[in-house]
Amino acid sequence: MAKHSSEPPHSKWVCTANHGFAPYAQEELRREFGSVKSTMLIPGEVFVATLQVTAEDVLHQIEAKPPIFMRHMFLADWEWSTEEHGGGGNEGWEEALSKMLLADFRLPGARVAIQTRKSEDSLWSGTAAEMKDKLQEGISKLEGTEFVVRDAEWIISVFAGKGSVFAGVARPQDNLSDWNGGAIRFQKEEGQISRAKFKLLEAEANFGIPFASFHEALDIGAAPGGWTSFLLERGLKVTAIDTAKLHPSLLSSPKLTFLQRNADSVKFKENQFDLLVCDMSWSPKLTARLVSQLLYALVPGGTAIVTVKLLTKKPMALIHEVIDIFEDARMQVQRAKQLFHNRDEITLYMIKY
Ligand SMILES: C[S@@+](CC[C@H](N)C(=O)[O-])C[C@H]1O[C@@H](n2cnc3c(N)ncnc32)[C@H](O)[C@@H]1O
Repeated sequence: MAKHSSEPPHSKWVCTANHGFAPYAQEELRREFGSVKSTMLIPGEVFVATLQVTAEDVLHQIEAKPPIFMRHMFLADWEWSTEEHGGGGNEGWEEALSKMLLADFRLPGARVAIQTRKSEDSLWSGTAAEMKDKLQEGISKLEGTEFVVRDAEWIISVFAGKGSVFAGVARPQDNLSDWNGGAIRFQKEEGQISRAKFKLLEAEANFGIPFASFHEALDIGAAPGGWTSFLLERGLKVTAIDTAKLHPSLLSSPKLTFLQRNADSVKFKENQFDLLVCDMSWSPKLTARLVSQLLYALVPGGTAIVTVKLLTKKPMALIHEVIDIFEDARMQVQRAKQLFHNRDEITLYMIKY
């Protein structure tokens, strides 16, 4: 039988971070909510956490202080476990879940996305896509419900682990991302210069940055040119700096100035740029200092996007040190977030005051 397990003051969440970063997402929960009881569902990546706080309070606090490493979380207010169903059998959870969903008064007539995931050792032996089809079939009787992939009003999230299945229905904004597990995907374009471009596309979507509204950008550590190509496509004038060469396809752009130099040896006009981006592969603290020295060229109110490489076992401490350097240089951090397309790094979104 299905069970509702989120009686206040507890709430249970299926939480996802980039691979290897789940311990930091757990640490963020501990710092914010105190005691956390958690179990890994996919090692290093997905875990289920019980917090001694109501779901409403968790959502409120997360909105006020968005986490860095938590990529996605959904309230698991429905749970099924083999242990509670006689130990052995895996049968019956789909029917039980469908029954619960058919009784959910929020779903009839709404645009609904079903997002399913599973672990490798999952009790569901088919694919996640087959799980989704099976569930959709089970709730096809919902009157007037339109099943969609994007722009849903409600998202049904399901995670099938080894001995248990977790599910919940939520507004997209309450899951931190409206993508399944926060894994936002972009189509690779023909002739795309680097995958790094996905980071700016994701920053645009996630932080709501209107890149096309800027006029002139400085791109530090620009080669081979994924970010520069993105900014040129958005119509900006771009000054790109790198000791390495830019991709030849960019060099004919009339809006591009390329300086093949070390970024510590360049000079600009004061307030020349309204956007500064930096994706330099270098020590994060030295990068922060180097960027700070170039901030005279960013107009007050200008935006900066900087990736911070986490070449350390203590990323939280490092991130705070880097943020301190930027704050001393009159930058206000709007968001610090490990994007899905960030590997061993996070992205800082800042505004100069
Ligand atoms: C990860 S790549 C940047 C990728 C780029 N954002 C893209 O979209 O293609 C990092 C770049 O930083 C450059 N870099 C590292 N230190 C630098 C420095 N002191 N001055 C200029 N460029 C530097 C490297 O040469 C390298 O091309």
